[in-house]
Amino acid sequence: MNTCTTIEELKSTIHASKTKGKRVGFVPTMGALHPGHASLIEQAAQACEEVVVSIFVNPTQFNNREDFETYPLTIDKDLEVAQRAGATVVFAPHVEELYGGDLAVAPVDYGRLTSSYEGQKRTGHFDGVVAVVRKLFSAVEADSAFFGKKDLQQLAVIRRLAEEEFVGLEIIGCTLIRESDGLAMSSRNVRLVGESRQTALVLHGWLNQIKKEACNQGDIQTALRAIESEAAEMEGVELEYIDVVNGASFEPLHDGPVDPEAFAIVAAEVGGVRLIDNCALACS
Ligand code: PAF
Repeated sequence: MNTCTTIEELKSTIHASKTKGKRVGFVPTMGALHPGHASLIEQAAQACEEVVVSIFVNPTQFNNREDFETYPLTIDKDLEVAQRAGATVVFAPHVEELYGGDLAVAPVDYGRLTSSYEGQKRTGHFDGVVAVVRKLFSAVEADSAFFGKKDLQQLAVIRRLAEEEFVGLEIIGCTLIRESDGLAMSSRNVRLVGESRQTALVLHGWLNQIKKEACNQGDIQTALRAIESEAAEMEGVELEYIDVVNGASFEPLHDGPVDPEAFAIVAAEVGGVRLIDNCALACS
């Protein structure tokens, strides 16, 4: 596995593999790799001969300084996880390499995709995500890029970015991976200490409740309001939102039969750690 820290090194490695007719897959990450990331890399390795994994904690997408400063850094372990999962190149640039000296990013307006839910709760978050992913896409020039469906709204934003600016780049949304007890895997989970780890399971429980309601053609609105009331009574849990949306447009879906693209989405702080999760409502 090759490790590059500059765009120049990365481009020359990729150019060499493209000349040999290799298909290039790209998995962007902020490090602290867990089995969810490994599954993205494995999926990329099944489809592509060259698999680039970027490891870069992007300062411009954090709306909370403390979250950025405490973001887990585990580069040695990350290199092992990446290699074991099938990465052939790791791109781990320093902040100056991507941003020069200027961390100002342009605002992005994709309508509801960037203004609702995560966009509303985390001001400027998608501006930073789009800024860094644009830089990374331009540097890697991959054939396909792989993103986890845990960050469902981010995936929709990235699809829009690719449609507008990287025509021909295939964006692949990969299955959300859970711990055995149902907690969605996230690099932030290591910060769930003591009782918070157990309490965090409530997010998955709520999503299941909504799915059950949807599959029984029940009243989703009433279920959502009941969950909001339950959350308000819970200690150590700050519910930010819970809703049902179309997973591509992020338009809320409140009435009528369940849209095949319907997802229940949730964000909450548990023991001071911000978690998001989602679940497709299509019934099997
Ligand atoms: O999903 C993430 O880890 C990040 O938002 C991404 C896509 C790597 C951009 O920094």
